[in-house]
Amino acid sequence: MTLRALLLAAPGAGKGTQGTRLAEHYHVPHLATGDLLRKHVADGTSIGQTAQGFMDRGDLVPDALVLELVGTAIAGPPPLEGFVLDGFPRTLEQAESAFRWGQDRARTFHAVVSLRVGTDELVRRLLHRGAEAGRMDDNEVTIRARLDVYERLTEPLLAFYRDRGILVAVDGTGAVDEIFDRILTAIAPHVD
Ligand code: AP5
Repeated sequence: MTLRALLLAAPGAGKGTQGTRLAEHYHVPHLATGDLLRKHVADGTSIGQTAQGFMDRGDLVPDALVLELVGTAIAGPPPLEGFVLDGFPRTLEQAESAFRWGQDRARTFHAVVSLRVGTDELVRRLLHRGAEAGRMDDNEVTIRARLDVYERLTEPLLAFYRDRGILVAVDGTGAVDEIFDRILTAIAPHVD
């Protein structure tokens, strides 16, 4: 039994927190585009140099760059059979590209998990992390920009996956363990 899942939710909703657990539970890699990009920035690669300005402003990094990054991580050969994607796809172009890739290789997603958390709680979580961990984009101005970008460019993907019958919406508030149990219960009917 493997899992190909995507966590699709606003900044601060818990994609990283829950994605790590989900990947461990199903023994598949957790691929977070934000983490991959931050590593490129830290390493000073040309990808990182291109991405940094977009990330600091809370804008999305160009699709072509992200598609190359994810393609390298999952393409193989052989292509990864199972994975938990976190933060990708994030635009309709990325979603359509991922869908075509999956169809060609019999590796479409089993489930897309949407974590529902109110805006005030999202901002509170991110400001808290900004104060504790110092992530550059966790400041009030950039948080608002990220939330705006999410609403305009990423939220429309919910309908894309709802139409394909693989969207599961989960309450993303409360204790981390409780949310994880909700996710496992919600995706169970979708997994091989
Ligand atoms: P990315 O790293 O994906 O950031 P994000 O979407 O803004 O999400 P976060 O990492 O802030 O939040 P999360 O939902 O993972 O929540 P987490 O578990 O960390 O992307 C960063 C940037 O990279 C983008 O702005 C863009 O520029 C670029 N990028 C990335 N992917 C891209 C793509 N596909 N295309 C183009 N550009 C792309 O939790 C947040 C905090 O809340 C943590 O401190 C956590 O401890 C806490 N927390 C978690 N759960 C709970 C809970 N239940 N209760 C209380 N606190 C909680």
